[in-house]
Amino acid sequence: MDRIIIQGGTRLSGDVKISGAKNAALPILASALLADGANTYQNVPCLKDIESMKQLMIHLGARVENNDDTYQIDATGLNNFEAPYDLVRKMRASILVLGPLVARLGRARVSLPGGCAIGARPINLHLEALGRMGADIDIRHGYVEASADRLTGGEIYLDIPTVTGTENIMMAAVLADGNTVIRNAAREPEIVALADVLKQMGANIVGEGTSVISIKGVSSLTPVLVSIIPDRIEAGTFLTAGFLTGDNLNITGCQPGHLSAVIDKLRQAGAVIEVHSDKMSIKRTEKIKSTDLTTMPYPGFPTDMQAQFMVLMSIADGMSIISETVFENRFIHVSELKRMGADIEISGNTAMVRGVDYLSGAPVMATDLRASASLILAGLVARGETVVNRVYHLDRGYDAIEKKFAALGAKIFREKV
Ligand code: EPZ
Repeated sequence: MDRIIIQGGTRLSGDVKISGAKNAALPILASALLADGANTYQNVPCLKDIESMKQLMIHLGARVENNDDTYQIDATGLNNFEAPYDLVRKMRASILVLGPLVARLGRARVSLPGGCAIGARPINLHLEALGRMGADIDIRHGYVEASADRLTGGEIYLDIPTVTGTENIMMAAVLADGNTVIRNAAREPEIVALADVLKQMGANIVGEGTSVISIKGVSSLTPVLVSIIPDRIEAGTFLTAGFLTGDNLNITGCQPGHLSAVIDKLRQAGAVIEVHSDKMSIKRTEKIKSTDLTTMPYPGFPTDMQAQFMVLMSIADGMSIISETVFENRFIHVSELKRMGADIEISGNTAMVRGVDYLSGAPVMATDLRASASLILAGLVARGETVVNRVYHLDRGYDAIEKKFAALGAKIFREKV
């Protein structure tokens, strides 16, 4: 397992280009299952989760070739409807093949993704919706078994605006017989990106990006050539790094409009951020203002940026209250930040963060993707050396993050252990 070593205190400056969005690429790659023919996807990030999705698509019978950030996926030879446990356990977003498989083949057998460090992560809403669309759903031996001669459109109300749930239902509905309306749908930019791709394939969708998405089923779809949108969470992570320790950091190839809540919250904390069409610039300020935060579904402040923001508040000028409303166990990074000198007390889904003068470098353990990113940020601003262990969590969702930080002047490197 690799670890990342950081000597804190250096200033970051220069340009960093944002990679394609993991959480847009995963459902879009899965959408290749919906059509015959070769789809081409550009600006796909180089991540462990993308490799996992590639292996799963090949297992299902699709032809997958990739060269750098361009992937070609052709599902003409789709001959398998089973997503096995040993592939799904590596990446729970594998559940995104469920909707397309039932839509295309009329059958799917997908291992239940199970929980992860940040929560139980059930998929009941995905399954209830497919049931409403006429699929027979069974849970047997740890697998979801779904079948339908042809799905029928229906009225779907989601108790929670689930992101991958909305994506699974969209991909099931585009080939269903009749109209589907998804109410309380997720509104994330990744939902809009998927809808854009499906519409280029010939799907009939309106309302994406709002909480009501209407889909009129069509008989077939055709392959596309598309580019993946930039990763708003990676952009937010580097923006936070710039606020913590930047001299003049330029974040390029991003879509600031996808980060409005993050930009606003950082400005509340005292950040000076210049925003352009596809670039943001930020530098550190002497004082970071303590600022309360509540994570919410989009367009609210994203839960995937909560850990990063907590690092900022750990050296702010007072007490900040951070409430995590999306996942039930997303404060795992707190114990590691406390080992670096942070003063944080947890009560239920709320963390009271009292700013300290500085963090001290320490050996720490990564536990989930975004917690790992927060430990990197803490190491960059801490006094002394930080060693972040188990960085395979980081590699699932960040494309060579230590190389990007090193190019900005950070004293950071990876070593194999
Ligand atoms: C997506 O996960 C993202 N992953 C997550 O990013 C992100 O944190 C999350 O959305 C919230 O924005 C991908 O897009 C691949 P949800 P998802 O379904 O779809 C509950 C990262 O770091 N729920 O919107 O799994 C669930 O337990 C990852 O990149 C049900 O109860 O999240 C959670 O509390 C982490 N039943 C809440 O809804 C369901 O059927 C939101 O989950 C589905 C969800």
